[in-house]
Amino acid sequence: MIRKTLGIVCVVLISYGCHLKQKEVFDVDESLQYCVEQADQTLSEIPDDEKSLPRNIAPESKEWNYVTYQDWTSGFWPGTLWYLYEYSQEPNLKEVADQFTQYLRPLSEKPATDHDLGFQVFNSFGNGYRLTGNAEYKKVILRTADTLATLYNPAVGTILSWPRPVPNMEWPNHNTIMDNMINLELLFWASKNGGDSSLYQIAVAHAETTMANHFRPDFTSYHVVVYDRETGERIKGVTHQGYSDESMWARGQAWAIYGYTMVYRETKDPKFLDFAQKVTRPYLDNLPEDFIPYWDFQAPNIPDEPRDASAAAVVASALLELAEYSDKALAKEYRNKAIAMLEELSSPRYCPEDGNPAFLRHSTGHYPNGSEIDYSIIYADYYYIEGLTRLKRIREGKKPV
Ligand code: GLY
Repeated sequence: MIRKTLGIVCVVLISYGCHLKQKEVFDVDESLQYCVEQADQTLSEIPDDEKSLPRNIAPESKEWNYVTYQDWTSGFWPGTLWYLYEYSQEPNLKEVADQFTQYLRPLSEKPATDHDLGFQVFNSFGNGYRLTGNAEYKKVILRTADTLATLYNPAVGTILSWPRPVPNMEWPNHNTIMDNMINLELLFWASKNGGDSSLYQIAVAHAETTMANHFRPDFTSYHVVVYDRETGERIKGVTHQGYSDESMWARGQAWAIYGYTMVYRETKDPKFLDFAQKVTRPYLDNLPEDFIPYWDFQAPNIPDEPRDASAAAVVASALLELAEYSDKALAKEYRNKAIAMLEELSSPRYCPEDGNPAFLRHSTGHYPNGSEIDYSIIYADYYYIEGLTRLKRIREGKKPV
């Protein structure tokens, strides 16, 4: 397939009587079709066993490295397949989406070992339930929400992210990472679909406590906050995957933007909308011209630092939703920038079609650890296809979410 690439957002003027409307010509169907074809390649190569959930591809490789259901990224591949099924309506994609989703079922049957249950189970079973209404999926989601809630510490007011010793986290004190915001969606959903109302209260408390403790005056986020597990007192804000404790780690800020947008959707409390807009500002105002962030906004050797396409994909998807809730001027900015992000991600710089079956190149997982630097990573693909799907819905006159 030869992909048309447009270096800039082209504008076509369409006349409606005496009104002129602008229409972007970024071809979302072409990009979604590209995703279908790339996923076909993965499906033709993937071992047919439960130990083979795609996680990443190294820069010079064309082969996925696989993980089991226990890995924090295990839900992104089944979630991606559900989005592909939603787009293509191909029965085969529904079948394989179900197959990979089922591999994660043990997460609903075991005690929590991490906060990532929302990423894992809501992206897989959650998308599956949204598209099929399968009652078995619903049971898994509800059980998992209860499991996630066991990590909540009422003295602190947040979920414990890593229930184990992690360097610099002062175990057995309580740590909460910004990424944890995304897992609240599982709790909100469960509380509205037959689960206990306490799940809603836990999600709101987590969002409020994080809002109070996790941000600097300029609304950039600490990656991790450590709390005294008995008194709930804030001990310190530090990084784990960013450049420094005081820097803005790109994906951490992306999780904040996406997380508070989702919390506003679920609560309709205006303070969360206001906050989502505030945490979006420093991210948008400090992006490079092509809208794809370096892995950390304060990385010392910019522009010779790796990018993080995954953060761009997360933010593009979030902005398409946040635009729905924002006033006209902000909505226009958010939508135009989200489209510019998706367009850049859809260019040969990120989708070179060189035999690598992932959708996107150039994500950074854990730079300080030396892992997944400039890789293809499955969660970039997931939020990219989610963003494309949201944009397609908007163009069809539907709500993005
Ligand atoms: N949740 C881990 C990460 O964003 O890398």
